[in-house]
Amino acid sequence: MKNWQDNKKVHNKLWDSVYDLARAEADGNPDFLEAWENINVKELMRGSLGEQLLRSIRGPGAVADDGTVHSFSTTTAIPWNPDRTPYIIDGAHKFGTLLDCIHIKMGIFFERILANLDFEPELIVDLGSGWGRNSLYFSKYLNKEYNFLCCELSDSGRKCADYLAKIYDLPIEALPFNYHDNTSLLEYFSKNNFSRVLFYSIHSIEQIQKIEKSFFTSILDLPIEKVKFIHIEPIDWQILGLPKSTAGAAPHYNENLYSILEELEDEGSIKISIVKPSFFGLKHTNTGALLEWEKISSNYALSKNEKLLEHEGKR
Ligand SMILES: C[S@@+](CC[C@H](N)C(=O)[O-])C[C@H]1O[C@@H](n2cnc3c(N)ncnc32)[C@H](O)[C@@H]1O
Repeated sequence: MKNWQDNKKVHNKLWDSVYDLARAEADGNPDFLEAWENINVKELMRGSLGEQLLRSIRGPGAVADDGTVHSFSTTTAIPWNPDRTPYIIDGAHKFGTLLDCIHIKMGIFFERILANLDFEPELIVDLGSGWGRNSLYFSKYLNKEYNFLCCELSDSGRKCADYLAKIYDLPIEALPFNYHDNTSLLEYFSKNNFSRVLFYSIHSIEQIQKIEKSFFTSILDLPIEKVKFIHIEPIDWQILGLPKSTAGAAPHYNENLYSILEELEDEGSIKISIVKPSFFGLKHTNTGALLEWEKISSNYALSKNEKLLEHEGKR
């Protein structure tokens, strides 16, 4: 996608079709999980993932139905069998039914959310939330105990998240949002005071070829005492220092998330706690890496500076 305007059109169309699915699956259906699963399976099968999987499974470790393991140089297309959907978890190439893969993915993503609730966030912000897939699931299985803010570029994505949140009575609000101009998010925080906020992005910064450092500094500058971030984004190649062409990523996909975070860490603004390539991916390429970091409070930065001065014998 050359620009966000085109990307918005594409996602408006895509999530509009998911909104139709959501109405068909959720209207009059009190079973959240059943509706959520059906929407996911149908969306993934008809969406770009389904198209890519149907076209071919290529590359290292791809296993054909006859059990042949393919090498790097493989260019033969292997038709996708949804009962043997390829996925990567912690670097291991595996297969499962599409529904199993969806649950494995949500399970390990949910574990990361749970592991980051120790600071008792007052709000959980889903950046580039799409139709609300992740926030709806997390909110439901956190027993509605946390407020979620679904920040999304497309109108239809927000409409779908709003619709499902209302039907299943989940504490989720949707906010118009653009990574290239995050005024709406900053305005939201100027009107609502929070001291502890957890942010996450799941395969959304991937769509921003160059994320501006100011996107992060504008959030770090807010008077929020504790800020934590979780990213699951396909940036293995950035972390491992490989050429982008090895990643199976679209040409417009992100190129600088990792270097921006490293820069912020070098400046003492954040502390990166987890960097895990090949964390999880549907398909055997373009896998999501896990990155977690938190804002370094000014107190911490001061004590770090004091320690440095002590060390240099200047005090
Ligand atoms: C691959 S989808 C992932 C959606 C969701 N995170 C999920 O896991 O289902 C990428 C999302 O990023 C959104 N997006 C793309 N460009 C954006 C931008 N400039 N600002 C905000 N969101 C954007 C798209 O509209 C889309 O909903």
